Amino acid sequence: MCSIIGYKGQLDVAPLLVNSLERMEYRGYDSVGIATINDGKIILKKGVGKVADVNKRLDLGSLPGDTGVGHTRWATHGSVTNTNAHPHYGCTDSIAIVHNGIIENHKELREELIGIGHIFKSDTDSEVIAHLLEKYYVDQKNIKKAVIDTCKRLEGAYAFVAVFEDGTICGSRYNEPLIIGSVDTGHFISSDILGFLEYTNKAIYLENRDTVILDSKTLQIFDMEGNPVNRPITQVAWELASVDKGKYAHHTLKEIHEQPVIVEKAGTQNLDRVKEFCNIVRNSRTVFLTGSGTSYHCALIAKHLLSNFAKIHAETMVSSEFQYTLDGIDNTSVLLAISQSGETADVLQAVKAAKHMGARILSIVNIPTSSLARISDWFLLIECGPEVGVAATKSFTAQLSLIYTIVDRLCNGCLSFEADKAFLGGALREILDTEIEIHRIAERLRDATDIYIIGRSIHYPIALEGALKLKELAYIHAEGMTAGELKHGPLALIGSNSYVIIINPNDTTSNDNIATAHEIKARGATIIGISDRPNDVYDIFIKIPSVKSIFYPIIEVLPFQILAYYLALAKNADPDYPRNLAKSVTVK
Ligand code: F6R
Repeated sequence: MCSIIGYKGQLDVAPLLVNSLERMEYRGYDSVGIATINDGKIILKKGVGKVADVNKRLDLGSLPGDTGVGHTRWATHGSVTNTNAHPHYGCTDSIAIVHNGIIENHKELREELIGIGHIFKSDTDSEVIAHLLEKYYVDQKNIKKAVIDTCKRLEGAYAFVAVFEDGTICGSRYNEPLIIGSVDTGHFISSDILGFLEYTNKAIYLENRDTVILDSKTLQIFDMEGNPVNRPITQVAWELASVDKGKYAHHTLKEIHEQPVIVEKAGTQNLDRVKEFCNIVRNSRTVFLTGSGTSYHCALIAKHLLSNFAKIHAETMVSSEFQYTLDGIDNTSVLLAISQSGETADVLQAVKAAKHMGARILSIVNIPTSSLARISDWFLLIECGPEVGVAATKSFTAQLSLIYTIVDRLCNGCLSFEADKAFLGGALREILDTEIEIHRIAERLRDATDIYIIGRSIHYPIALEGALKLKELAYIHAEGMTAGELKHGPLALIGSNSYVIIINPNDTTSNDNIATAHEIKARGATIIGISDRPNDVYDIFIKIPSVKSIFYPIIEVLPFQILAYYLALAKNADPDYPRNLAKSVTVK
């Protein structure tokens, strides 16, 4: 949601904070601010916009001092305004805080604090943290106690970092990440390792309810009783730091282009880990699959493959609904959670619920140190490198490729995915070679208001994924549905202004799809076919290469990604940072 960064050390803090915030901007990007300490005073600048724009306007990087905190916001409570941007002061400017998460009891706390004379400036839930810290600090003159007492009052999820005018930085977390990076010159405290990975790969992951205090000499971590605790130093892979756009205009385009190599290299991770993963799956009675958004669409395909090829009983449930349908989950079950970030709150909630029912937890993640990986009994990595564009593209292909690897192993090589990987990589390149044509199609569709995407069987999750890409990147109302369901209601919406995209490779679903296409065409809609074979019914044709039928999902998603990217450009939207969205959805 939001990103937090703090630094205390010997270097000029402001440029460091600005750089770190730019690297974590995918987490939230509607406003930005930093506070530093200079000559025993906190100075603060903040404003609405992306880091680069606000920095240009306010020159954030010029704030003096060697201690400070910074924040990018993704609004949850309170609209996007300068006042609601972080950092927040208490009543005076002796403490400033930055926060990520949601304080569920903020209304009660606010009323209580107003009752004793505190004056609030913003509409955010976060501001109560500043006032609580201030209250307890004024009462006790002890930063450690003030932080612990503050945390004891907070309900909900939080990671916050505060600076005090004496130069101390402190922070705490509960169900939101907070990680310390240690460098020769000092320490960072950050929401994500990307906040400091350029400077150090030594990370300390704080546990829930840990409090960290950085004063002029030491870094200390305490539990909620105030006892010192030791947390191990983790060496993080440096490659995660490679987040530049290279020759591409946007991260999203770069990530789309990385997909052929990702598929070709899929499954090269430690095969013993895959083996153990498969053993756990084999020894379960039912595999429940869960995920959110794009990762859920991968789970739908995984269910199809597990049931049809590995003959494993599998059920799928979107994570945000999982806790309401726990019947049938017990200690003979496995929950397989799929998540790029490994931090999605809905997914973590589903995992907790399944754990509670006795299920074993498997996960597929991109970040080995993520919360999801850490609470799983076993996890596998999709190994696609950091995905910066907010819309999931390469992580989806990487998740799918890993699922094919797993299912192939479970069905003793019946898919022969390993042998086909190179061919699939080539097929993706062929589609990328048609980028200009898809760009032209995007120009034709720029004024479309409604796009329906239909497919059957294993293509249905791609219809959902294609619609999601068009919604989030191009802000077009798009609906993915099974082709057969169209006639059960949605057909009433089809008319001469409608566009319908049919995912129709030459497989067992094709004849029925063509019949559906004719029904739609008869109602005046424009038909866009995505297929390896042309057909007269298509008004617009997007050609994809022929591949083994079970592998089509890997390649047929690519035209949607390219189309959505160019539609975003055509509509002057920023494809890397769609409005109202954040890369890691760490709130429920
Ligand atoms: C869509 C998108 C989101 C995520 C969803 C889950 O492009 O990015 O729908 O797929 O928020 O995120 P992860 O996979 O990090 O759990």
